[in-house]
Amino acid sequence: MKHLLCFVTILSLGFVEFVSGQSVWTPDIKWINPGFAEDTVLRSPPVFRKTFRVLKPVKSATLYISAHGVYEGMLNGRRIGDAFFAPGWTSYDTRLQYQQYELGDLIKKQNDLRITVGEGWYRGVFGGLMEKDNYGHDAGIICRIDIRYKDGSADTIISDTSWQSSTGPIRHSDIYGGETYDANIQPDHWYGVRTGNYSTAILVPAIGQAVRKHETFKPVKVWTTPAGDQVIDFGQNLAGWVQCRLHGNTNDTVVLQHAEMLDKAGNFYTGNLREAKATDTYILKKGTAVYEPHFTWHGFRYVKVSGVKVQPADFTAVALYTDITPAGTFSCSDTMLNKLQHNITWSLKGNFLDIPTDCPQRSERLGWTGDAQVFFRTAAFNFDVSSFYEKWLQDLKADQRDNGSVPAIIPNIYRNLQPPRRHGVAGWGDAATIVPWNSYLVYGDTAILHKQYESMKAWVDYIQANSKNDYWSANGYGDWLAPGDSTSLPYIDQCFWAYSTQLVVHAAQVLGQTADQAKYGDMLQRVKDAFMKAYIHPDGSTMPNTQTSYVLALEFDLLPDSLRKPAAARLAALIKANNNHLATGFLGTPFLLHALSNNGYTGVAYDVLQQDTYPSWLYPVRMGATTIWEKWNAILPDSTVQATSYNHYSYGAVGDWLYRTVAGIDAAQPGYRHIRIAPQPGGGITWVRASYNCPYGKIVSNWKKEGDKLQMEVEIPTGTTATVIIPGKAPVEIKEGRYTFEGVYQPSGGG
Ligand code: BGC
Repeated sequence: MKHLLCFVTILSLGFVEFVSGQSVWTPDIKWINPGFAEDTVLRSPPVFRKTFRVLKPVKSATLYISAHGVYEGMLNGRRIGDAFFAPGWTSYDTRLQYQQYELGDLIKKQNDLRITVGEGWYRGVFGGLMEKDNYGHDAGIICRIDIRYKDGSADTIISDTSWQSSTGPIRHSDIYGGETYDANIQPDHWYGVRTGNYSTAILVPAIGQAVRKHETFKPVKVWTTPAGDQVIDFGQNLAGWVQCRLHGNTNDTVVLQHAEMLDKAGNFYTGNLREAKATDTYILKKGTAVYEPHFTWHGFRYVKVSGVKVQPADFTAVALYTDITPAGTFSCSDTMLNKLQHNITWSLKGNFLDIPTDCPQRSERLGWTGDAQVFFRTAAFNFDVSSFYEKWLQDLKADQRDNGSVPAIIPNIYRNLQPPRRHGVAGWGDAATIVPWNSYLVYGDTAILHKQYESMKAWVDYIQANSKNDYWSANGYGDWLAPGDSTSLPYIDQCFWAYSTQLVVHAAQVLGQTADQAKYGDMLQRVKDAFMKAYIHPDGSTMPNTQTSYVLALEFDLLPDSLRKPAAARLAALIKANNNHLATGFLGTPFLLHALSNNGYTGVAYDVLQQDTYPSWLYPVRMGATTIWEKWNAILPDSTVQATSYNHYSYGAVGDWLYRTVAGIDAAQPGYRHIRIAPQPGGGITWVRASYNCPYGKIVSNWKKEGDKLQMEVEIPTGTTATVIIPGKAPVEIKEGRYTFEGVYQPSGGG
């Protein structure tokens, strides 16, 4: 059943889909809006209804549907499909997705089809400005059902003026605020509908997977806090909602509030949620029923319940995220690193809800471009994110400004603000080049480069147009939230200009665009020369003199060979002087350990990785984190809780180093046609087990220390070859299959 009903993914081919030679969205199919006057405060989600009879045996019935808002369809009282928050969030002015469902045995002789439309991103209060109607004022749907009968004939049901509208038990629902549900209310009066004059040309088949329900958690503790609140701890910070079985009398009211943290005194803490009320309210009808929200989600671990005494068995936390396929596993002898890996994957799950978001709990949940790019490689090791990012990149391209500048958030909910909100920011706008290029490296598919090539070029052209004498200096977020000395903005700007230009040169080469290759090659040289002149001393020291300044210079290949060694030594010295602790923010952190291990300082990299005092990756782990924090010290050492996000994947970008260096799995050729297996043991770790499902199949890299020997187990899939770098031995070339090797266990250098 689940099978039949599941949301069918259609790959976007960049043109309109056709049914029997016709566009899905023929002119007779109308957008419909409610035919009643809306309660302007509650804005209860409208329910659209169509009844129809089916007189002959049905072979298939296919529903195509989209909405202004987020929809849930019920046919004869049963839910259509298992997707949530459809049609998803895209740049709604130019791209609005529709989904396709096989209705299977939901269809009967006499049918009652109801589509409820929540506020969603389209019209709900959303964004830091807490504005509503960001894309439009009216909730609406457009749909068609193609019914094919066993006798070969066919019928089509379409959205038009024959539909009815009303409101139902969902009295109010918005993403930040939560949902109010009154079980005593059912639509009792049906109104007509208005037709809306909206374009159907922007309707595109959905790309990638839908948001679905995933892991569930039962309460690990239910207690009364010092402030007297009844609170449930689900043991894991997640994005989703609570499903509860409630028993009561008519009009009994049960309220669930959500939070990620308890404060120092052990009280329920919502101080980091900004404007998000994150509250679900159920008004019961007599008896027992199971309740859950429909059009909201919360980032939470703790739930405060009032109105009922909690029976733990009746409450379940449900994680909701895009149904991406798991791709990798990583575990090792260091249990703290395993917890870090757990936290990375849970921050991924918490922030891959239709778009890559910064955080799932406060009144933000936006597609910050910087966060999305720094985390790409880590995300790709853990899940197959190809179509997830492909969808988002189409929105990046759609929202890119005419002058090539890239907004700091995608989809750009602030697009109509004057003056325009932050855009053209180094490290954020560069998502335009970094994500497509890395997607190509990981998945080996040139299609992503073809699709994004103009956008990639437009971004560096924008920088060029806004530069002076080959220097770029713009407003930005810098090395956001770095705990150390800040790295100056112009330095960061210049580094990212060079990096993005380099990626455009690479893309031009892959796509055979030789003129562009030369043109952007020239640009790159000028940017690098200018960089050397202004920011690098002859002894290899950088101005400014921060961990991030060295990390970017090294990893973006901005230094001549002769200066790499001294620069790496200075980076290592800065780390030593910082008591072997990192001092990097959002932009330096993803590359920090690579800059060390690529330049002979793997030992230092392990030292930094395994610190458990602030600032470090394992400090939050030691403080009990179950996800990655936005700030290195979200909880202060004295247990003071800061008003920040406790589910922000950006610093989880270190996951890439766990796979690529600790386990040593890397693509030697785009798409892993040729693989490099080169673990760099260290950090006192005695065994590692890692796997990654590349486009060809499963790669395994396991190693364990046995005395002074290193035992390696390597597996690579059919159709691939690999170079295996065995510590202490000569490299070996292998073909598909499973192998064991014995190397020498050498503690990593430079520590
Ligand atoms: C977000 C970040 C984002 C940043 C821009 C914050 O509010 O949560 O993750 O990248 O703004 O500096």
